[in-house]
Amino acid sequence: MAVDLLLKNGKTVIGDKTATQSVAINAGKIEGIYKIGSEPASREVIECENLYILPGAIDTHVHLRDLKLSEKEDFATGTMAAAAGGVTTVVDMPNSDPPTLSRADLDEKIAEAQAKRFVNIGFYAGVPKKPSDFDHEMVPDILGAKVYPHSPLVKRVSYTKPRMEACLKISAEYGFPLLIHPDASSPSAMPESLDEYFHLHSCENEVESLRRFLDAQNKVGGRIHVCHVSCASTVRLVEEHRAEESLTAEACPHHLFLSGDGFENIDGTAKILPPLRSPYDASSLWDAIRRCTIDIVVSDHAPHTEQEKHLPFLEAASGIPGLETTVPLLLTEVLQGRLSWVEYLRCCCSAPARIFGLNDKGVLARGYDADIMIVSVEESGISGESFVSKAKITPLEGRRIVARPVKTIVGGVLVYDEGKFVVGRGVAGRVPVRKT
Ligand code: DOR
Ligand code: ZN
Ligand code: ZN
Repeated sequence: MAVDLLLKNGKTVIGDKTATQSVAINAGKIEGIYKIGSEPASREVIECENLYILPGAIDTHVHLRDLKLSEKEDFATGTMAAAAGGVTTVVDMPNSDPPTLSRADLDEKIAEAQAKRFVNIGFYAGVPKKPSDFDHEMVPDILGAKVYPHSPLVKRVSYTKPRMEACLKISAEYGFPLLIHPDASSPSAMPESLDEYFHLHSCENEVESLRRFLDAQNKVGGRIHVCHVSCASTVRLVEEHRAEESLTAEACPHHLFLSGDGFENIDGTAKILPPLRSPYDASSLWDAIRRCTIDIVVSDHAPHTEQEKHLPFLEAASGIPGLETTVPLLLTEVLQGRLSWVEYLRCCCSAPARIFGLNDKGVLARGYDADIMIVSVEESGISGESFVSKAKITPLEGRRIVARPVKTIVGGVLVYDEGKFVVGRGVAGRVPVRKT
């Protein structure tokens, strides 16, 4: 019997070696990987000569905005940016407007996302001011809960001991990770100078807040996933406590690729939280990836409008787009010999699937979901103007990359083809992505 689609004569990666093979897709799943000449008959064929066939990336830290913040991004533009960047699954953060704090909030997001999706979308919930008000009805449709020290998400809360313990108890009860934004700065502090700003969001504060969460975990259990680790000292603390299930951690491309002084002097282009750190911190993050102390690399795609970014640093909004640059940047490291295929595939595909329970995703093998990107090796420069995302200002502007996703397939459906979207909104992708 003929399969639905054959990706023919592409370069696949086995361990740290590449081979020329074909990938067959049927009913949204990978049917098999075949030697040239032994492929099954197929209703459609995509010729992939000289192109890589890789699992689509799973980006588990994305702010898709929409609803009352749709001038920054919406589920259509955010998931189109994902597809253009080789990302086939995104997980949306709860610090939206309205924030994701109840089943009704989540249902509103799911309905919008279903109508506008181009890739798979999963969700995290926030934890309300009173953790005992956590809406348990959300549990089947979320992949974890995210907590911030203080944010518009839940007004006037900080990481007090009882709150940390209560949040971890929720994680322990349901077995999903508690994603923490590690920062111990005071909720009322409004920095008036750059010095104050960097003091407020220092590495000492990052590591101290993780230490307190680890103490709380020691008492009540639960799973911690540390978001956007940015400091060498935090890497060391994670390394001491790292455990397959109970402590996992992520790093972001901006902290890996950008470091040093000067970024704060222009405007808000490079303003993000946690802030950019020193070259020493960045190189410690790369080492941590190699040692598996850092499990995954995520974009922390946090779009804002041009007006909000083009302001003096202290007044500008925090957050940068990343969905269209994460995969090309990391593949550039692989193709130039600084990162192995095994490390890349773990950080961007298989480890995020494992941590968040997406058991049918993240691997290019028979029986897995047919979420695939096809990549061309060619040199170009990062150009914010060409982003599909509404957010087009990036501190990575002009950086050279040598890999470009040219086709993106989601659940067996070709979504993105050479700069064009070949299906409409709401056709491809599962929403919400659930644990499998
Ligand atoms: O820079 C940031 N922007 N850090 C965060 O933690 C939140 C994010 C946002 O939502 O804009
Ligand atoms: Zn965060
Ligand atoms: Zn974030």
